Amino acid sequence: MSLDDLAIQPPAVLDAILRETEQSGFVMASEPKTGALLRTLVASKPGGRFLELGTGTGVGAAWLLDGMDSASQLDTVDNNADWQEIARRHLSNDLRIKFHTEDGAEFLRRVQQPYDFIFADTWAGKFENLELALGLLRPGGMYVVDDLLRQDSWPEGHAGKIPGFVEALERREDFISVKLAWGSGLMMAVRRSAR
Ligand SMILES: C[S@@+](CC[C@H](N)C(=O)[O-])C[C@H]1O[C@@H](n2cnc3c(N)ncnc32)[C@H](O)[C@@H]1O
Repeated sequence: MSLDDLAIQPPAVLDAILRETEQSGFVMASEPKTGALLRTLVASKPGGRFLELGTGTGVGAAWLLDGMDSASQLDTVDNNADWQEIARRHLSNDLRIKFHTEDGAEFLRRVQQPYDFIFADTWAGKFENLELALGLLRPGGMYVVDDLLRQDSWPEGHAGKIPGFVEALERREDFISVKLAWGSGLMMAVRRSAR
């Protein structure tokens, strides 16, 4: 058996989102391995407050919602209303999700309440404003990114940002982090409790 085999049931809504994603020309959607990990991680936080930076067309959000319990809430942010409209069409009937169409950094600056989990899937909160994003996590809160292994879909400048980003996360003494050679290359960091 290969650990790469992914014989798991994707969220029911995913097929329809993927069809529209392909028609739209959006090429940055999360892959199933990332989605499966996100879904598993959020299931560990019943009643959790979750944040996705970079909604895209809603692929990651569909996986997140599939792992969340009924008392959990997901905020998802994108500055591109057209991509996000696809996500809204397929997911806004789920009352646990709230869409924000705005710049991710501005959202991070104005948000008040802490989160249990952040999937930082755009530059804001990842390569930029990392401190702002990490500062929003409760003790035990998880910060997850993907796209650390080279992808054809990367925008210009992405590759050069990775070493400094990884180093900044690994240097943090208030977070425990790990890199995972899974899917597009993931990293997660968990805020330590005060000791
Ligand atoms: C990698 S894609 C997100 C994919 C999505 N999370 C998924 O799982 O399929 C990155 C998204 O970030 C959005 N984006 C780019 N710059 C942004 C910014 N400054 N603030 C908010 N969103 C931004 C893009 O419009 C794009 O939809």
